[in-house]
Amino acid sequence: MPMSGEISSDITDSWFCVATIMFLTKFSHLGAHVIKGLTGGQTSTPRIPYTHLFHNRHLQHLKHHFFSSTAADKAQEGGDEDKEKISVTFIDKDGDEKQIKVPIGMSMLEAAHENDIDLEGACEGSLACSTCHVIVMDMEYYNKLEDPTDEENDMLDLAFGLTETSRLGCQVIASPELDGLRLALPAATRNFAVDGFKPKPH
Ligand code: FES
Repeated sequence: MPMSGEISSDITDSWFCVATIMFLTKFSHLGAHVIKGLTGGQTSTPRIPYTHLFHNRHLQHLKHHFFSSTAADKAQEGGDEDKEKISVTFIDKDGDEKQIKVPIGMSMLEAAHENDIDLEGACEGSLACSTCHVIVMDMEYYNKLEDPTDEENDMLDLAFGLTETSRLGCQVIASPELDGLRLALPAATRNFAVDGFKPKPH
């Protein structure tokens, strides 16, 4: 015959089992309910992108935890973008300055056209004119440029208002060491190649 202590222990164990079963049942119902809500009532295996799972407001904080990019990440991305561009200032014949960002590898002629700067470039960079003539404002930057080819020098000889630091804008290519470059546009150009033609950016 069981002692009263043993009966009490059996009752406690039984209640514990019942409580555990109720908890698991409730939990599985809740899980099914959440999945049903997320899949619009589908009971077969749902094919939904995992990011859609987090549209549920109860799971938003998990999405934030696992998938949101932090302000530091965004600053890093912005920094990376800026690293691929350099600052260039164009100074027009009236002395007005315009600073633009130029992607590495882009010519100053292309950059000027993309930013509505009045640099002609009648032959579109084929070294057949001098209408993309620019004057590098600082000798330090001029010395950083690749030496001009004979073809560029031939065209420069025909440029209006040639200076010691003159270059053809279509031949000056943005590179990291040119960050801060300042280019002046001459007061006039001599367009002997294609009279009056001004190409538009593509
Ligand atoms: Fe003609 Fe530069 S655009 S030489």
